[in-house]
Amino acid sequence: MHLLSTRQIESSEQLDSLFNVANSIRCSNLAKNKFLGIVKDEASTRTRISFEVAMKSLGGEVILLDLDNSSSIFKGETVEDTIMTMAENVDVIVMRHSQKGMIHHCSKFSSVPIISGGESDTEHPTQGLLDAYTIYKETGRLDNLNIMMVGDLKCSRTIHSLLYLLSLHKHNIIYLISPEDMKLPEEYFFNDLHFIHNSDFLESLTNIGKKLDILYMTRLQKERYSENLDNNPYYCLGEKESQYLGEACSVLHPLPRNKEISTNFDKDPRAAYFKRQIKNGKYIRMALLGNLFTKGTFLN
Ligand code: NCD
Repeated sequence: MHLLSTRQIESSEQLDSLFNVANSIRCSNLAKNKFLGIVKDEASTRTRISFEVAMKSLGGEVILLDLDNSSSIFKGETVEDTIMTMAENVDVIVMRHSQKGMIHHCSKFSSVPIISGGESDTEHPTQGLLDAYTIYKETGRLDNLNIMMVGDLKCSRTIHSLLYLLSLHKHNIIYLISPEDMKLPEEYFFNDLHFIHNSDFLESLTNIGKKLDILYMTRLQKERYSENLDNNPYYCLGEKESQYLGEACSVLHPLPRNKEISTNFDKDPRAAYFKRQIKNGKYIRMALLGNLFTKGTFLN
């Protein structure tokens, strides 16, 4: 079984059960003598570090392969052959790829489970899981939430993965704040979520900032557009905007940050993105790998 989409999670109970493993998992030898291969053609900081630390915390080893001039891709080898080679050497593969459908495609060639570490502008399931886990840890629930998602909703694969998980629970209201040309694609309008769209961030914050449980900021995914968007006006959580947020609202960001959250906000107790969200990523990934090595499957 591969982990390519959060849509593979069948119920809120299955999600709770993963959270329970993440709550209790700490360093162990569950991955002793096991190897994790990371294969990627896109930049990665957090996903790579976090999988590496998760695997090593479980006593396992990690091999990193960048699909660039340093691999045989440079000599004309296909990605399929590269994956087959990696699969013969390791027990599980994390793959990140810039091309839509590539990870699904490669999973058919792999003799070991593949975990998507983020594919093009489609999905990033483990980030979605750690985001859901963070929301749960911050608020104590995954239902009856007011969540504002801000930015490039068209290309934010982390939001695409997270929305499905939120749809497993009842009465969640999602405020979508994006420029008109970066709206959330229709396929992510999951049933059971109530969506409200606005392109004006400040106006939305003024109206409902005090009611929000979670504010989820994202960067503009410049690399996914052919035009130069360097000077594009973009949303920013600065001093003015943060005044409209309630005291209990947690601010999340999958990172990397560009300009969408002022660095002055980092020390605010509501800022969950560096300290808490990143830590949660390690435990969710340890839980997935731990499940795989003990039960033979990522989820119960
Ligand atoms: C995100 C990604 O790569 O999709 N970051 C991450 O994995 N933590 C978000 C982004 O690139 O903007």
